[in-house]
Amino acid sequence: MTIIVTGGAGFIGSNFIFHMLKKYPSYRIVCVDKLTYAGNLSTLKGVISNPRFRFVKLDICDREGVFKLFGEEKPDIVVNFAAETHVDRSIYNPSVFLMTNIIGTATLMDACLEYGAKRFHQISTDEVYGDLPLDRPDLFFTESTPLHTSSPYSGSKASADLLVLAYHRTYGLPVSISRCSNNYGPYQFPEKLIPLIIANALNDKPLPVYGEGLNVRDWLYVEDHCRAVDLIIHQGKPGEVYNVGGHNEMRNIDVVKLICGLLGKPESLIRHVADRKGHDMRYAIDPSKISGELGWLPETKFEDGIKRTVEWYLENREWWETIISGEYKNYYEKMYGNRE
Ligand code: NAD
Ligand code: DAU
Repeated sequence: MTIIVTGGAGFIGSNFIFHMLKKYPSYRIVCVDKLTYAGNLSTLKGVISNPRFRFVKLDICDREGVFKLFGEEKPDIVVNFAAETHVDRSIYNPSVFLMTNIIGTATLMDACLEYGAKRFHQISTDEVYGDLPLDRPDLFFTESTPLHTSSPYSGSKASADLLVLAYHRTYGLPVSISRCSNNYGPYQFPEKLIPLIIANALNDKPLPVYGEGLNVRDWLYVEDHCRAVDLIIHQGKPGEVYNVGGHNEMRNIDVVKLICGLLGKPESLIRHVADRKGHDMRYAIDPSKISGELGWLPETKFEDGIKRTVEWYLENREWWETIISGEYKNYYEKMYGNRE
């Protein structure tokens, strides 16, 4: 069994590679990653010399390169994590999101058709459903909730989902899609809320909370997401969409205060800054399809997962300090410099 995992030098893709190499001793994993600002080869140092692992630096939009690799590897399964993923960056520069998230996905599916892959799995997001109002806690996203996007990022991910379903219907490509809620855990790039707050708090820097911090996200520990994808690629039905989420909704301000508490840092570090444009209010996943059909349930409670995550960032300072001392400084200044 050969699996091509794209975006495997990023947060969730790398955790998925670790999970698969450990769980399936006969599987070969080929990681394809362009190593954008969000990709980090040092994340993969524990597996790079594993004889069942190959790393290929490649842009998923590079049609010639992708076809050449698929010709060499003839993958059984392709799991597409590769994407531009940060909503705030998509607001400043949408075009790269359209290229990677839409054209890149189509390029991979063309190669799957050419070389007969038995499954193409698209890693999508709950953001394709838009948001839910705060005053309707009874509402959840199901797989049949209409797509209704808010940001260039979510628009590009929804476009990719539509193409994936079109390739299934038109060409019979055996596809599946998972739409997961917010992940947290080791190796998450420090531009995202949880690692950003941990890193800033450890450096006694202000903790930026957009608007009042009342927006709600449904947090899932990354390993639980990896187990869901593992189940879907082996047992999920072709042509189907599966929502993945842990019924763990929290307001941003409460997440930030919890992290302050875990690190023993004062809440006076919190700064309410200008809100994100088009900011989604609430995400909440109904995971009953994947639970009922495939028996998936989240295993890590938020209170345990967040402690484990904070400990990981404490024990792996070099990993994130290398990132925040580089180009990230320019990004941070642009994004937060004059944000009142
Ligand atoms: P990430 O930003 O940490 O990693 C993305 C990876 O993709 C990086 O290694 C980057 O180098 C690579 N990449 C980007 N453009 C590429 C290209 N053109 N060709 C090859 N590689 C490229 O992202 P993440 O948080 O790990 O997200 C992975 C996937 O999961 C994405 O598709 C995202 O939409 C989805 N997702 C993320 C979350 C979350 O909470 N982080 C939740 C649901 C879904
Ligand atoms: O829901 C799944 C999505 O989760 C994924 O598809 C995206 O790839 C991933 O980036 C994530 O999107 P969010 O926009 O929800 O995540 P982010 O960590 O950027 O922000 C989480 C919440 O925290 C959001 O309401 C915005 C807020 N926020 C974020 C940052 C970076 C702040 O208040 N301050 C910040 O500095």
